[in-house]
Amino acid sequence: MVRPQAVYPHGQHASVVRSYQRRTVANSAAYLADELRPGSAVLDVGCGPGSITADIAERVSPGRVVAVDASPEAVATARRTAADHGVRGVEFAVADVHALDFPDATFDVVHAHQVLQYVADPVRALSEMRRVCRPGGTHRRPRRRLRDDGLAPRGAGTGRVDGAVSARRPARRR
Ligand SMILES: C[S@@+](CC[C@H](N)C(=O)[O-])C[C@H]1O[C@@H](n2cnc3c(N)ncnc32)[C@H](O)[C@@H]1O
Repeated sequence: MVRPQAVYPHGQHASVVRSYQRRTVANSAAYLADELRPGSAVLDVGCGPGSITADIAERVSPGRVVAVDASPEAVATARRTAADHGVRGVEFAVADVHALDFPDATFDVVHAHQVLQYVADPVRALSEMRRVCRPGGTHRRPRRRLRDDGLAPRGAGTGRVDGAVSARRPARRR
């Protein structure tokens, strides 16, 4: 099977990384806050420099947090960010969202912030995110962004795995 390549134009330049590192759950992923309960297992896909990941880990402690990114550089930065935040136990790995190396139904929450617009095959990426999310769990990414990208119909941007969330392309409007 051919694996789609990551398509990420911005790279990991220090100026880019600095701007991402200001991100927190509260200022960038507030849609996720209610899902982050102590003891939850969370996968943060495309974690970048990891400031949102570190915040997630603080919120779900003593739960399990795994953060993956296609860029080894980003993963190294995310490790340092977790250490700087005094967050322990986050598992980091270099991984492509198109082919996640986790069994089905591993996580309570699977999250991607500002990632799917950069991947080669967003529908396949979403399928993978859904696969590793337990039934009844939540896979989330910003609602607005996915809709802007024409990947989900209005109102279907986030939701429960066993609900109406889909990655299908909407019918073209006439
Ligand atoms: C805009 S950054 C967002 C970082 C972080 N989620 C945040 O909001 O601060 C996008 C990240 O997605 C990663 N990425 C791009 N394609 C990917 C893929 N196919 N699989 C995993 N990560 C990918 C990039 O390496 C980059 O670190």
